[in-house]
Amino acid sequence: MTNHDVIVVGAGVTGLTTAYRLASAGHDVLVLEARDRVGGRLLTERHAQHDEADSSADFEVGGQWVSPDQTALLGLVDELGLETFPRYRSGDSLYVGRAGTPMRFTGDLPVSETTAAAIAQLTKTLDGLAGEMDPSRPWEHPDATHLDSVSFRAWLEERCDDVEACDNVAMYVGPAMLTKPAHAFSALQAVLMAASAGSFTNLVDADFILDRRVHGGLASVPRALADRLGDRVRLEADVSLVEWSDEGAVVHVGDQTFKARHVVLAVPPTVVRRIRFSPELPAEHRMAREHQSFGLVVKVQAAYASPFWREQGLSGTGFGPYELVHEVYDNTPDGDERGFLVGFVSDINADEVGRASAQERRERILASLATYFGEQAREPLVYVESDWQHQELTGGAYGTSFDLGGLTRYGAVLREPLGALDFGSSDVAGLGFQHVDGAIRVGDEIAGRLIEGVHP
Ligand code: FDA
Repeated sequence: MTNHDVIVVGAGVTGLTTAYRLASAGHDVLVLEARDRVGGRLLTERHAQHDEADSSADFEVGGQWVSPDQTALLGLVDELGLETFPRYRSGDSLYVGRAGTPMRFTGDLPVSETTAAAIAQLTKTLDGLAGEMDPSRPWEHPDATHLDSVSFRAWLEERCDDVEACDNVAMYVGPAMLTKPAHAFSALQAVLMAASAGSFTNLVDADFILDRRVHGGLASVPRALADRLGDRVRLEADVSLVEWSDEGAVVHVGDQTFKARHVVLAVPPTVVRRIRFSPELPAEHRMAREHQSFGLVVKVQAAYASPFWREQGLSGTGFGPYELVHEVYDNTPDGDERGFLVGFVSDINADEVGRASAQERRERILASLATYFGEQAREPLVYVESDWQHQELTGGAYGTSFDLGGLTRYGAVLREPLGALDFGSSDVAGLGFQHVDGAIRVGDEIAGRLIEGVHP
């Protein structure tokens, strides 16, 4: 049995940041990762048309975008010597309303004056609520109890009788972020999503929130961290049992055991439930994780011979609260002459296409892209769907959130250290909640606490 200062379970960005900070401060750290790769929900895959290598391209099947408020991520990107490039956004965007025909716009959505005014009013209210919230302690918001007792959809409808306005605002937080229908999470959870990005206005501004990408893919961040950690990272090490006390813990991987003074479980709260603990986690800790669940989104990417939409003066950005693909963007890698689109099919729509055959799903998704960009969109050279929901070590996308009332009841518990154990992932972050920036902040915070020796 090897003996370490700290064992980190999970080599996603949270775990690798924690380990990198600890190792840099001279601690003996070991990272145990169940998969045969690092990066967790960040992954670049190479795909080609009919497996022909000369048509191959890299696709980011997990997280990819960086926004200007994500200073922890931007700082780490810099520290690791990586570079970013902006998302292509020149030209008109498209909006597909209930009529099902695309309308070009720049700036504000091309909706009626009444709908625009209703969206502006809801935005103002949500900005106000987000401004009152410390995203790392959302349960302390002055109206937390009420906001957590009502679904975001019901909260919107209480304030606004313009259905299209409600549908759009619901889309920004539901399908586009938490990837759950807006009736399935609380208004407090929605305010947290906004506060974690600085404001609701930031959250709904695609030019802000989806600003830049990293050369080589966002997965370069965990790969670079793992390179620096070297043989401190052990792959194909699926932790099945943790025996713990106040003094330390023994971690089991198959018939191997590893001992440490501290163990950091850097896995999503729902995935903590795969691990057995001895003694069992206290009831409140188990219940807190029972009230968490992953959202579901299918990220779809299509590569074409050229970015044909640009020739029509289109940016590649499109929104459609009633469309199967509710949002779509130009995703062309920097310097590539081909054209790439990325679109998202979320929550109930994702359930539905998940039941279709692969061929039918592809046809329906490409038909939705054709609603935005015309018939050419039906004929990509390469078509890639991300599938995280069938992966036991993740279980959905993008992240986890609470059911109604869960945030006030159990929010604080998810981050509570317990004896020799610490828990964290982007799903429990304040700033950068559900994003890579949040993963880094959580990793930094846990490492900082362990380095300072401030541990209950
Ligand atoms: P993560 O889940 O990545 O890591 C946990 C690790 O623990 C995994 O490697 C897992 O294999 C391992 N593990 C689990 N159980 C284990 C066990 N028992 N033993 C050992 N190892 C175990 N973010 C963003 O900033 N911009 C974006 O554009 C997007 N877009 C996006 C799209 C899609 C499709 C997805 C799925 C996600 C995003 N995200 C995103 C979210 C972002 O990818 C996510 O928040 C972080 O990568 C999460 O990092 P963590 O390290 O917290 O968890």
